[in-house]
Amino acid sequence: MCGIVGYIGREESAPFLLEGLEKLEYRGYDSAGVAVYGPDGLRVAKAKGRLKVLAEKIDGGRAIPGTVGIGHTRWATHGAPSDVNSHPQTSAGGKFAVVHNGIIENYLYLKNHLIRRGVEFVSETDTEVVAQLLEYYYDGNVMEAIRKVVEKVEGSYALGILCEDFPDRLFAVRKDSPLIVGLGRGENYIASDIPAILSKTRDICRLKDNEIAVLTRSNVGFFDIDGYFLEKPVEYIEWDVESAEKGGYEHFMMKEICEQPKAVHDTISPRIRDGRIVLDDIALTKEDLERFRKIFVVACGTAYYVGVVAKYAIESMVGIPVEADVASEFRYRSPVIGPDTLVLIISQSGETADTLAALREAKHAGCRVLSIVNVVGSSIANESDDVLYTWAGPEISVASTKAYSTQLALVYLLAIHFAELLGKKSPEECAALLAAVEKLPEQIESLLAHKENIQFFASRYFNAGDIYFIGRNIDYAASLEASLKLKEISYIHSEAYAAGELKHGPISLIEEGTLVVALATHTGLFDKMMSNIREVKARGAVVLGITTEDKLEALTAQADMVFPIPSTETCFLPSLSIIPMQLFAYYVASMKGCDIDKPRNLAKSVTVE
Ligand code: F6R
Repeated sequence: MCGIVGYIGREESAPFLLEGLEKLEYRGYDSAGVAVYGPDGLRVAKAKGRLKVLAEKIDGGRAIPGTVGIGHTRWATHGAPSDVNSHPQTSAGGKFAVVHNGIIENYLYLKNHLIRRGVEFVSETDTEVVAQLLEYYYDGNVMEAIRKVVEKVEGSYALGILCEDFPDRLFAVRKDSPLIVGLGRGENYIASDIPAILSKTRDICRLKDNEIAVLTRSNVGFFDIDGYFLEKPVEYIEWDVESAEKGGYEHFMMKEICEQPKAVHDTISPRIRDGRIVLDDIALTKEDLERFRKIFVVACGTAYYVGVVAKYAIESMVGIPVEADVASEFRYRSPVIGPDTLVLIISQSGETADTLAALREAKHAGCRVLSIVNVVGSSIANESDDVLYTWAGPEISVASTKAYSTQLALVYLLAIHFAELLGKKSPEECAALLAAVEKLPEQIESLLAHKENIQFFASRYFNAGDIYFIGRNIDYAASLEASLKLKEISYIHSEAYAAGELKHGPISLIEEGTLVVALATHTGLFDKMMSNIREVKARGAVVLGITTEDKLEALTAQADMVFPIPSTETCFLPSLSIIPMQLFAYYVASMKGCDIDKPRNLAKSVTVE
């Protein structure tokens, strides 16, 4: 997500902070800032936009002298990109400056608590709450203030902290968000990612959750949350800059596939409180929902395939008819829509031209527009009536993976929320559904632990000329995305078919050795899928089956190889079945030597029609 770099030494810090932040540009950001402790005390400079805007503002760093500093590139989550929302955030009395990666889940509660005690806030960020809380608790002992803040805040954070009273100290603490300390000679560093400090040092210590680092020029002290001193091993980094940017992975796509457990967790957990869904960010009421006769889900590409899952999930849980449509069709086909229609727009970038145009059509027709978007402050977010953000962080690989998973997670939360509001599910049923959603991150993690099985299968079939994906119901929805993933990065021709459609045409394509990937996770339709698998096997197909663990044996009897996934509620299965499919696409493309992160002819954000 965002990027952090910090420096304490004998040289001017701001030029180095700019250099370090530049090394983190690949992560994506919308604004940047630095805080430097110098002859004039603690000074902060921030700017919306590219790093060069900030660099010009501070004359390449020369305008803010000082040998201790922290810097940040921000990817907006709470509050649109702007100078004031950029980091560092400072406390009202100016004692603390803070840079933060992650999400403070209970920030609204803490903010209101502080406002009631007279603290004045200037930004919309969750990070400002940390700066203000530090000052609120501070009585001359920074470690104690940090400890109290850590006790109060919920969520994920990597924090770099400067305190006006300690010009020779730089503080850092983390939970669920990476932070490293770099060790130099007469100077030390902090960073969220290795590339930021690789030009200075290869000796690093990785902070663990709730560990605090106190950096001086000559020394770094590590402490646990109770203030006890910790010995930490020093790691020597052998990576070059390019592999450091990818966190040691060969491609951003694999890095992002592996980030999915965290991305899904970050997206859902702030929206679940005391076992209930809290969608503070949207204003849709029970009365609004009762008015809707139909829901349209409109999007492009991968986001559209989330819409296909949404159709199954919302119709089965909420009972409102749902139509999923690709934006380029929707906008030109005079759909029957009006004030009694909810239009759910899904977009990672928030800038896709067709999706934006479809949104405007829907608004023009008087529909209520709710969007699921990853980029805060994007055009789609700005023009929607309500927005739910996927907190996936920037997605760099053109092939979408973590955006898909986080969009699915929000669709599930919406479906459960709607079902609860409309009384379509009992509180007990909703609680069970929610518990299943909460389990998804660890289930995705467990699937990623068995990557090598898929790699092995890919190694045998990466030369296939055509690959067909079949499934029924939510398995058909996931097949569509599985097929898109494969074709866009491996350039292998592939199609997804509703398995029941096979005998209406596509089965004539099956011949000796044709590869068919059969998604058979839907328990109620498993026997039907087994018949379809038999049909293609009888015509010579090689079948890779995906099913739940309890059906492993039955499917193994028919398929050439089976990859099991854990069980979950039927509607949520695509979140798990897509993981081996993403890996399959990745390994096939890798074995074919394709340019995985930048497939030919494709752009990350399609802002033209
Ligand atoms: C495929 C992919 C694209 C996007 C599509 C919509 O991996 O990434 O199909 O899903 O271009 O983009 P957004 O979600 O930015 O509207």
